[in-house]
Amino acid sequence: MAKRVGIITSGGDAPGMNAAIRAVTRHGIFLGYQMVGIKRGFKGLLDDEFITLSLRSVSGIINTGGTMLHTGRCPETKTRTGMKKAVKAIKELELEGLIIIGGDGSLAAGNALSKHGIKVINIAASIDNDIYGTDETIGYDTALNTAVEAIDKIRDTATSHDRIFVVEIMGREHGFLTVDVGLAAGCEFIVVPEMKVIIQKLAVELKKGKDRGKTSEIIVFAEGCGSSVEFAKKIEKLTDLEVRVSNLGYIQRGGRPTARTRILASKFGYTAMDFFHQGKTNLLVGITDGKVSAIPIHQALRTEKKFDAQTVKVLRNLSV
Ligand code: F6P
Repeated sequence: MAKRVGIITSGGDAPGMNAAIRAVTRHGIFLGYQMVGIKRGFKGLLDDEFITLSLRSVSGIINTGGTMLHTGRCPETKTRTGMKKAVKAIKELELEGLIIIGGDGSLAAGNALSKHGIKVINIAASIDNDIYGTDETIGYDTALNTAVEAIDKIRDTATSHDRIFVVEIMGREHGFLTVDVGLAAGCEFIVVPEMKVIIQKLAVELKKGKDRGKTSEIIVFAEGCGSSVEFAKKIEKLTDLEVRVSNLGYIQRGGRPTARTRILASKFGYTAMDFFHQGKTNLLVGITDGKVSAIPIHQALRTEKKFDAQTVKVLRNLSV
């Protein structure tokens, strides 16, 4: 009988997860495995919700957002009892190992499972791009493009009304996505958790921008910095200018994956199954300097990804 390998998507969905599921499934079947899709993240594992994946069941999904397996956050697996239940479920399903597609929460689950002797490969997928061990996560490029497209539209109304906009970007407690969105959308200011902002100074700079003839100014504001509404109120008070807030929210998580995201997801999925087949497990698959590679899960988990402050400098110098 063919050895069985499980695939699970967990945590927040990211565009390109489907492309990764397709790649893992098809390459897994090619390598002689029976591929089992666990539904609804780790909750589905505990609830025994799974499907057998075939070559055809992953047809027509490379171009779709979300995850065909559904996903979720499962606080139970953070407990010892929950983790034991997950290990038991994996054994009962007679899985040789598990491919986990997700972000940092999934990485923690992968680490815990590997400590219990389960063969795991994590694939980095999250719009936040906050995982050490990969220059880019699946879904990040799509979210970046979605946010930039939205800000291009916001710019039209901001310019027409001579307004300042604060645009809130997702990213949990990090500003990786915010910084790149800001640079690509030609925004004037960035507020991210990684860098201290003195609001009074920012207000002065905004006014100077107006004096230089700017008709609109856009501040990209990372969700990890608190309330964008409160921040906007303070800016309005300090500048006496009209300020509006737009929270891009969950639209950043959806939509058709870009070609770049699909390529990344396909390569990650293919490589994950290759490593698994070679007996190389307990790894996170990512990309470094253009090369798909892997590092131990525990290393990815315990190392903070470096924030590139240079990007902020470039943005400021160019948004004159
Ligand atoms: O990790 C992806 C992400 O979209 C973060 O940017 C955000 O903070 C979080 O998930 C939102 O989580 P939830 O889907 O549980 O509301």
